[in-house]
Order: sequence, then C-alpha cells, then structure tokens
Amino acid sequence: MCRLRSIAVCGVLLLLALGPKCARAETGADAWLRYAPLGEQAAQKYSHLPATVVVLGNSPVLESAKAELIRGIRGMFGKTLRDDKTLPRDHAIVLGTLSALQSATPGISASAGLPEDGFLLVTERVHGFDCLIVTATNDRGVLYGVFALLSKIARNENVSALHETQQPYAPIRWTDEWDNLDGSIERGYAGPSIFFENGSVRADLTRVGEYARLLSSIGINGCSISNVNANPRVLEDNFLPQLARVAEAFRPWGVQLAISVDVSSPKVIGGLDTFDPADPRVAEWWRKKVEEIYRLIPDFAGVVVKADSEGRLGPATYGRTPADAANVIARALAPHRGVVFYRAFVYNHHLDWRDPKNDRARAAYDIFHPLDGKFDDNVIIQIKHGPIDFQVREPASPLFTGLEKTNEAIELQVTQEYTGQQRHLCFLPPMWKETLDFDMHAGENSSPVKDIVAGKTFHRPTGGFVGVVNVGIDANWLGHPLAMANLYGYGRLAWNPDLESKTIAEEWTRLTFGNDAAVVRTIKSMLASSWTVYESYTGPLGAGTLTDILGSHFGPGVESSERNGWGQWHRADHDGIGMDRTASTGTGYVDQYRAPVAKMYESLSTTPKDLLLFFHHLPYTYVLHSGKTVIQHIYDSHYDGAEAAANLVQRWKTLKGRVDQERYAEVLKRLEYQAGHAIVWRDAICNWFFQISGVPDRLGRVGHYPDRVEAEAMQLLGYLPFDVVPRETASGGKAVECAPPAQKCSAAFQFNGAAGRYEMDIEYFDQNNGKSKFRVLVGDQFIDEWIADDHLPATKPGGDSSTRRRIAGLALRPGDHIRIEGVPDGEEHAALDYVEIHPSPN
Ligand code: GCU
Repeated sequence: MCRLRSIAVCGVLLLLALGPKCARAETGADAWLRYAPLGEQAAQKYSHLPATVVVLGNSPVLESAKAELIRGIRGMFGKTLRDDKTLPRDHAIVLGTLSALQSATPGISASAGLPEDGFLLVTERVHGFDCLIVTATNDRGVLYGVFALLSKIARNENVSALHETQQPYAPIRWTDEWDNLDGSIERGYAGPSIFFENGSVRADLTRVGEYARLLSSIGINGCSISNVNANPRVLEDNFLPQLARVAEAFRPWGVQLAISVDVSSPKVIGGLDTFDPADPRVAEWWRKKVEEIYRLIPDFAGVVVKADSEGRLGPATYGRTPADAANVIARALAPHRGVVFYRAFVYNHHLDWRDPKNDRARAAYDIFHPLDGKFDDNVIIQIKHGPIDFQVREPASPLFTGLEKTNEAIELQVTQEYTGQQRHLCFLPPMWKETLDFDMHAGENSSPVKDIVAGKTFHRPTGGFVGVVNVGIDANWLGHPLAMANLYGYGRLAWNPDLESKTIAEEWTRLTFGNDAAVVRTIKSMLASSWTVYESYTGPLGAGTLTDILGSHFGPGVESSERNGWGQWHRADHDGIGMDRTASTGTGYVDQYRAPVAKMYESLSTTPKDLLLFFHHLPYTYVLHSGKTVIQHIYDSHYDGAEAAANLVQRWKTLKGRVDQERYAEVLKRLEYQAGHAIVWRDAICNWFFQISGVPDRLGRVGHYPDRVEAEAMQLLGYLPFDVVPRETASGGKAVECAPPAQKCSAAFQFNGAAGRYEMDIEYFDQNNGKSKFRVLVGDQFIDEWIADDHLPATKPGGDSSTRRRIAGLALRPGDHIRIEGVPDGEEHAALDYVEIHPSPN
C-alpha cells in the first residue's frame, strides 16, 4: 500500500517535472512570462529560496502578486510555495507594502522614501528567519517587485543576498490601443481586438486579463483601449457599464483603464447643438459624463484626445484652441484625479505641396508652442517622438523643448506601422533610445528627451511615456514572435530609459527563449541590427520611409508621399532628393529647435548622415563623407539591406533544434518572407531612382537581373501581360495575370543553365481578395503547389502583394521545360512577376 502510494506520488512528481516541458505548446501567448522549467543546475542554485510565501494585506493586486509568485516558482522548479497567512514561522518570501511591513514587524530596517510603484527587494531577518522581502509604497509596487524577482530567477541571476531598489522614471507609463468598437484595429497586425467585437465589449475578457498581466510585468500602469480616431459611442450611457468590465479585468494587475474620446461627443451623442468648449452647457455635459464614468469605474485613468487632425472634428470648428478643448475635459476629470492626453499630432493634410516653404514637420510646434502654459495641470500633451509620423528615422520632435510650462508624454509606436508591420523584423528600442537620449539643449545642463517628458527638466508635476501597441487576438499578441521584444522593450524603457537596448534584448531573449548561450547571442544580435537593416532598404539617409503613405504604409511607394497635401517627404526630382528644412533656404523647421541643435542641423557638414535628407536637399551627385555619391549610397544601401535581410534567415537557421519547433517555424516563415520582400523594396526603390536620376549604378546591378526570367517574356497560355502601377513595384513594370474568363493559365520557359541543383524563386502577387492556386512542373514532373492565401495588405498586384515562393534544391538540366500554372480566385488573378534561378548554396 505504502509502496503503491509512493509510486503514485512519484508518478505525479514525474508528471510535474516533465509536464510543463511536454505539455507546453509554444504559441507565444506566454510571451516573456513563460516560467519554463529551469533544470537541475538552476534548481541547485536556487535551492535556498524559501518554500513559503506570506502576504501582508489583502487586495486584488496583492492577490495577483502572490498568485504570480506561486505560478512562477511552480513553472520554473515544479514546486508549490506554501501560502501562509501569518508572519513567518519559517524562512519565507514576504510580500507587502512598507507600511504593512513596518506595522507587522516593528523595527524592520526596510526604509521608506520610494515613489509610487517603486519597490525594494531585500533579504532581511524577520522574526529570526531569513526572509526575502518584496515591498513598496503601494500594492502595485509590490506586484512589480514580484515580477522583477521572477524575471531575475528566469534569467539565472543571483538572488541570494538581494538589496535592490527600483523606481520608475516617470509616473505615466501607458499604452494606447487603436481598437475600434467593431473589433477591427487601426494599424493592428495580429488579428481582431481583444476588447471589442460587433460594436460591444467582448463577452469573454480572458485575453484582456492576460494582457493586463503582461503590461503589469513591465511596469505599465495605464491603457487606453479605444482608437484615437474615436467613436463617440464609447461615452453612451449603455456603453459605460461595458467599459467597467474591462476596468475590472485590468484592476488586479494595477492597470488603469482609459479611453479615447471624440470632442464632438456633447453634440453627437449628448443632444446639444454644439461642442464648443467655451459653451457652459458643453462643460456641464463633460462634468456629468465624467461623474457617471467614475461612479462605475472609480479608478478610471483618463482620456486621450485626437482633434483637428486627419479629418477629426476639433475646437477649430468654433475658432477655439487645443487648450480650450483639453481644459474643458480636464476640469471635469480633475476632481477625480483623471487626466487628459491631448495629442500634438495636429496638422493640415490639405497643405499646398507646390509651396516649397510648406512643411508638415512644422505643424505640432507651430500649433502648440504658442499655447505653452495655457493647459491645466492634469493635461498632458502627447507628442510623437518625431515631427512627422513614426517614420523609420526622424529627429526628435522640437516640441519637446517647445513646452516648458506644460506636461508632456512621448508617444512611441510599438505596432510596426511604418517599420514592416510585424512581417519584417525591426527591433525598435535602439531607435527609441536615439530620441530618448537626444540632448535638446534646453538650458545649461544636458536635457535629453527622456528627462523632459518625465517632467524633470522643466519641473512638471507629471509626464511620461505612451506606446501605441495594438495587440490582437492572435495567440502571440503581435503576429511576429520576435515583435514582442518591442512591447517588452517599450515597457522597460518607460520604466528606465537609461537601459541599453542590448540589455533589453538580452533580458527579453532569455525570458522568451531560455538561457542557451547560442540562442541568446544569436537573437540578441539579430535584434540589434534589425532596425538599421530595415532602414537600409526602405528609407536611407533620412529620406523617410519610402512607402505608400496614402495606403497601407507597407510596401514601396516612392511617389505617394509627394504632390499631395499629406506628403512632402523627400522632394525627389531629376536632380536631387531631400527636404530643405534649413532656416536659410528651406522651410525654417530647424529654427524650432534650441540654438545648438538648430545650428547642428542647419549645416550640411554637422547634420548626421542618417538624417541628411530630412534636413537638406542634395543633388544625386553630392559626395558623402564616405566618398560615395548620394545616388550610389541609395543603391548600395538597398543591395546591402536585402542581403542583410537574407542573412537574418541564415542566422535564425542556426537555432534549429535549440528553440521549440513552433516558434522556430513561425519566425523562419516571417524572415523568409522578409528576405523576399526586401528584394521587392530594393528593386522598386533603386529602379525608381535610376529612372528619375538617369544615373546608373556603378556596380551595374540596378536594372540588370541575369538570373531572372520575366513572366511577360515566357510562353503564355491564357496569361496576359499588364502594366503594374506604380511601375517600379513589379520587375520591368509588368506582370502577367489570368483574368476572367480564363480559369487556368500557364507561363513556361526553357532552362538554359548548366546541370545542377538550384533554388528557384517564383515572384507572384498575393492579394487579400482571392486565393489563387499555383503549380510548378519541370517537364511532366510535378514539383510544387501552393495557395496564395497570405493576409497581405493588398487588393491589387504591386509592392504590398508581391511575394515569393522558394523551391530549394531543384535539380535542373539544360533544356528543361519549366511551367507555372495559375488558377485565379475572386479578384485575385494568379498574377506572376518573374522567376529567378540561382545555384543552390552548397
Ligand atoms: C498615423 C496612422 C493613422 C493614425 C494616426 C494617428 O497617421 O496612419 O492610422 O490614426 O497616425 O496617430 O492619429
């Protein structure tokens, strides 16, 4: 009996030991909170950890802290902490606020003086036992401390004699989600909303709770869940109780709910005939509405406002200022300690592009600087990190020093709208660091952006960080498994902007993929280079992302950012490229900076290379410090970038067998796509500049593709050639399509190379309005088939939909007849661009 019992116990223990490893399906849902089993060596190293947890106090947040600690220890060591209600009778991990700790154990030396949300991890004797204490001023700080402790253990750090204080750099550390009430997400790339569905808050908010846990683990304390292009319905009486449900899901994790509101709400849903902020009825409407919100959501954080921007209504309707609009809402929120984030992303999108002095980059400063000091103390001006709109490279917004008597927050974009939409790897912390660390020269002392937004430089009562995240319902939150490093990185920088991006990359990799040295080294270095790799094939020298700015913001589209009111990106013409933003001959934008910064950007010789074309218009033949002309730099950068993108695939492949199969395969798929799309970018941009400048590539690559067979040059059966618009987004400007009434078409050609093994790339167009089928045959032999069913942001052939199928290790002989068959579906006509055949690498 006894033996039987011990066998059963052993079985359970064995299951416990093996369970997590075997059962874990690595969907990415756990993100950096995996708590994967750490193995024998680590179990030894952490054997001194107490077996008991004691929580002093009682609140949903403390309950989360305890549950998280138990979960983490169980995941990593297969042991369950004993949950003791009273003060230690043993070695314990003690969780509680400083005041709870001090009243329970008078004389404890853990000192006060921590700001809200800061925490202390310390080993101390309590009642004669060595205890590991996690304490803070508030419950949320205790929760943050638990996450920090677990993170240290998961990363194999020493926790034996801890004495560590951490405190947040700024009180505001928020995310904005651009979710619409119908469940779609503006600039979201990982499925529909976790918050809304069919016009209501989702019935099942499990993912919302899980998201709040993730946010909390990186110190995020506020989250605005609705699109800045706000739907007034969020404020309707019957909607507010639904919002209260989201707040409830957030609350145990110390994340406070906020929403975006439309300033026209008093009129659109409030029954007034005006939304003029100066009208007392409007003020009264906001007051009552806000009271109603706080009745349901006592810890409501506040609202985000986008007004007079990109077609949104705003105070300009009544000749009022952003300060008038912000203050009327702020005054309603003030008694409840709520805040208004008023976005500085206000500009005229009907700007006359013919006037070379017009410049969208000037807008935020021109509009908000004159209002400095006119905003109430619970208003925060939310400023995008650069003056345009999350381009792959921008200088810091001059508005950071344009507001000395106003609270500020920096807005960073975690969702990769202009940086590859989570289909390209682009680790953003290095980019954010450039802005956060940039010295704005506000006074005698150095004044980096991080200090200004944290309220330190101008001694403001509040300020901080906002990240636009846009997670979706997809299991892995952001689509690309490696894109989660951006969310993690955003949170870590909002907590401590002094962190190095490589430290962040290492932390994230260890937490997400484990401590295998080769895995850590490889992923860290892939992350580190990814931003500049992406930049090199999408917008080098500060030209801005040369994408389709009027559409998806994804594929190449050089002309879309010019000759329209939204644009003025690069002013490229036959002779040169770049926006002259100097004071002497350009738009005068540089004068919005403080003198030392303005001086640096005014002069061509002191402007950093990566921002040259942001500030100066240069002839293509202008010779850079490197000795290359501007045009040659553009060509080389795109070729190098595409090669570096291909190299990311090779680097990732070295990790086969070292990371779990699920995430290995998912990342590989995305990197292979990226490598192909980088070639689409390379060819589109290089050909466009070659056409307009007439300057050939010194290395003879642009326009010459010796291994390429154009589809329009093949023997076509049913397929018909057509012109792709814009022309640079298809090879030679043309492709072939199998348009109705044809139901099946083919394109064939003869292989004339030497016998051997080859890689064959078939470049085709995968739209989201059909699922065409393709088959490849060599002679009569079937080689491959696939369905074009990716979800690319495209309804027509072009730079967004162009993608490739690679057939590796194909044995070919001279004279082989290669045939591609296409079967169209819906609006998608199985369009083909070209085939490229390269010898297999080995
Ligand atoms: C970008 C983005 C829009 C968004 C806007 C904003 O322009 O493309 O979708 O609404 O920024 O930040 O308000």
